[in-house]
Amino acid sequence: MGRHLISAKQLSRADIERVLGHAAALDRESALDRHAGALLGLCFFEPSTRTRLSFEAAIKRLGGDAIDMGAIEASSVSKGETLADTVRVLAGYADALVLRHPSQGAARMASEFVSVPLINAGDGAGQHPTQTLLDLYTMREAVGLDGLSVGIMGDLKYGRTVHSLSLALTNFDTSQHLISPESLRLPDGVRYDLDAAGTSVTEHTDLEPVLPDLDVLYVTRIQRERFPDESEYRAVAGEYRIDATTLDDAREELIVMHPLPRVDEIAPDVDETPHAKYFEQAENGVTIRMALLDLALSGAGIFADEEARSLDEWEENT
Ligand code: NCD
Repeated sequence: MGRHLISAKQLSRADIERVLGHAAALDRESALDRHAGALLGLCFFEPSTRTRLSFEAAIKRLGGDAIDMGAIEASSVSKGETLADTVRVLAGYADALVLRHPSQGAARMASEFVSVPLINAGDGAGQHPTQTLLDLYTMREAVGLDGLSVGIMGDLKYGRTVHSLSLALTNFDTSQHLISPESLRLPDGVRYDLDAAGTSVTEHTDLEPVLPDLDVLYVTRIQRERFPDESEYRAVAGEYRIDATTLDDAREELIVMHPLPRVDEIAPDVDETPHAKYFEQAENGVTIRMALLDLALSGAGIFADEEARSLDEWEENT
């Protein structure tokens, strides 16, 4: 079971350092013959641009290829096939699977039906661990990973990239500042895990007082599609927006990150400042996913620990 990557909670510091180190050492040119003939199955039940295409780019840069389930309307899912059946069949066609699904817990459930490595590329408002690995890679290159003050702002309730990132950061000596409206605070389950890990976490409703202390500001999109009620979305939309002027009070070295897509939470004038790291971050998606797939397909496995983090070791409480 430890071969599947479902949650950031599975990742120890050693696992993270191993994937990041492998990514830094991978040479794109010579990687081309590493996995000739390997096939990656892409099962996306929700929209995706970066995650799907960077996984596809990654497997192709390793010499392999991708098979893509395509749009849900064009697949047997529209005939009522269960997720379990779909992944079971695709696992017979491919050497590894990447799954994105609107239901929290879907990746974990699906992983119980497949014998090839399954990678969670986002399960509803649950987890998005590969995004976290590329986030950490970007941070490490720019400012390191220890001794940091990291601000995470926006939709902390529904944002799966936030849930994964905040959990993974507990492996490092970083303090976390969570900036959001009251209604979009981190779910209790994730907060419980942060506290259990002994991480310093402070919640804020305003960015202004905390901004001068930050080394990293991780901005997120309000996850409109997850709001049960559109009026609730409208009540918070546009509240946490930064522009170049906002950053006047920031440290010179502050980096601004965002998993993308952005809507209007980062004004385009931030792009031209030295703080902006989000496009570089997106580009790192290919490098990190190459490293992950290389480890998963070579038999080395994603996890550094021989006792690979079994899915039974942790409970899904988000
Ligand atoms: C994120 C996601 O899908 O959770 N996108 C991504 O994978 N880069 C963030 C988002 O959609 O807001």
